Amino acid sequence: MRRTTRLRLVGALAAALVTAGLATGPGAQASPRQPTLAELAQRHGRYFGSATDNPELTDTAYTALLSREFDMITPGNGMKWYATEPQQGVFDWTNGDQIVNLARKHHQRVRAHTLVWHSQLPDWLTGREWTADELRAVLKRHIQTEVRHYRGKVYSWDVVNEAFNEDGTYRDTLWYRTLGPGYIADALRWSHQADPHAKLYLNDYNIEAVGPKSDAYYQLVKDLRARHVPLDGIGLQAHLALQYGYPATVEDNLRRFSRLGLDTALTEVDVRMLLPATEEKLAQQADWYRDLTSACLAVRRCVGITVWDYTDKYSWIPAVFPGEGAALPWDEQLRPKPACFAIRKALAGK
Ligand code: XIL
Repeated sequence: MRRTTRLRLVGALAAALVTAGLATGPGAQASPRQPTLAELAQRHGRYFGSATDNPELTDTAYTALLSREFDMITPGNGMKWYATEPQQGVFDWTNGDQIVNLARKHHQRVRAHTLVWHSQLPDWLTGREWTADELRAVLKRHIQTEVRHYRGKVYSWDVVNEAFNEDGTYRDTLWYRTLGPGYIADALRWSHQADPHAKLYLNDYNIEAVGPKSDAYYQLVKDLRARHVPLDGIGLQAHLALQYGYPATVEDNLRRFSRLGLDTALTEVDVRMLLPATEEKLAQQADWYRDLTSACLAVRRCVGITVWDYTDKYSWIPAVFPGEGAALPWDEQLRPKPACFAIRKALAGK
């Protein structure tokens, strides 16, 4: 072997060892690879997830981090009604399948989202009146078809999303108006029939703290349990905003649902702020991410945390809350922010 070739081989081997995090001793050029959020969460028997959306999957730097750092994926839009049944009885799995397939390729599980919601519904559904019998049949068919399609491929379903108002009364939606409160139990039963192994969740925002809205879920859960309606968990979206204060009772709240025998999860975490972001705001945001992470770890049945995408580059916040943003643990250049280090530290127990 010529000397230059041999040197090149030695160099390549050293580089491979460094990338693998195996290089040690005085000649070592890099410290061992940092554990990912998923690995750190797994040490606690938890997962760490991110939402993602189809358009951004062409961004290879983005998907590399998505595939490496997380072990649970939620489609941000791809499984919603407008996407999956754009015309009555015509189902389209393109976007949902793309995300499920990407997740499977990287050994990630999927929190499927969402079957029954008042938002992002197709026009054919919202543009006319329905009798209760008609709408019940439409809902049943949608749920059965979608849940069957993903049977065995998803970890959980957000079966009903955002069912309550802030004061704990039922939200006046197409479903509630036409079918009454029983639509929730029906949706859970149909989902369970279609995939008996998927964990079934109710999911909402502003239910992180103990208060009228989370009390409404607490009562509903008790009632559903008493009636043996299949239900596995409550998802706390946790779309927080610095200007509204931290939900100080989140740990107590998680615990009371655990005591009813339910799993809980933080399902759509982001912590937005009024722009511009300052060092001070980013530090406060980091504290909030740390505290949310610790709260989940402190409650046995809090099974995991999902951020509503991981980078400010693809956050939903600026489009929906003008003047606000910088809500996620990675910035628009995919660089980790203080929040990212704070989550890591909380998961590492430091
Ligand atoms: C958001 C998506 O991220 C956006 O892309 C879309 O335009 C609107 O919906 N609560 C939920 C999520 O349960 O489905 C929402 O997702 C964010 C609020």
